[in-house]
Amino acid sequence: MTEQDTAVALAPSLICVDQCRLAREVKALDTLNVDFLHVDLIDGHFSPSMPLGIEAVRQLKPRTDLPFDVHLMVTEHDFFIDEMIDIGVERLCFHYESAGHVDRLLEKLHGSGICSGIALKPATPLRVLEYCLDRIDYVLLMLINPGFAGHPGVTQVPYARQRVAECRKFLDERGFDEVAIEIDGRVSFANIPDLVGAGADVLVAGTQSLFHRDGSLEENLATMHCAVAKGLQLRKREGS
Ligand code: DX5
Ligand code: ZN
Repeated sequence: MTEQDTAVALAPSLICVDQCRLAREVKALDTLNVDFLHVDLIDGHFSPSMPLGIEAVRQLKPRTDLPFDVHLMVTEHDFFIDEMIDIGVERLCFHYESAGHVDRLLEKLHGSGICSGIALKPATPLRVLEYCLDRIDYVLLMLINPGFAGHPGVTQVPYARQRVAECRKFLDERGFDEVAIEIDGRVSFANIPDLVGAGADVLVAGTQSLFHRDGSLEENLATMHCAVAKGLQLRKREGS
């Protein structure tokens, strides 16, 4: 967890750094006070994009102390999950929508000891999580369409705050308050307070926050911390 007395974790997205200098960029993130390295693995089939390869992930793993937070956007789940288990990543989520055998994949992850999550596209109903709750550590809510982050003009869905609040309620009502909510896609300085206020626990940091082009990593991190603190105040107020 980050400094301050927050329970909100920050996960810089690897696809937002200079892909020609991966190792050096990750070293720079290593020196910041962040929690996970968010690694998007897209197979070009799930959505039309393929930013990172398995070999790059394998070579980067021993070069940093940051736990790897892998977000699979693929159709051949067994192949990618086996590779990630072999590499030794700490956290992994896969998309419910493209997984033919959700229960089986959760069993596999559970046996591997990896912190496991299910990722949902913005408009997928939360009820699909119902029978998975006892085997997941977190839900990753996509707030843009997964794999389209690099497309110009992509914005966060207008119902992002409502989505996070409803997911928190869904989990709490079923007694799974320890299942965390990770949010991904256009998480920004401006929307962090509302999204944290609504219950987001892990923030994927991309072009609108940690990698915002107007600031250095250190400046942007400080701005993120302020936004998170505002969000936690809102959460406290709404909870009381
Ligand atoms: C979206 C990816 C995100 C993305 C976030 O498909 O999963 O990790 O890189 O970047 P921003 O915050 O710039 O949308
Ligand atoms: Zn992601």
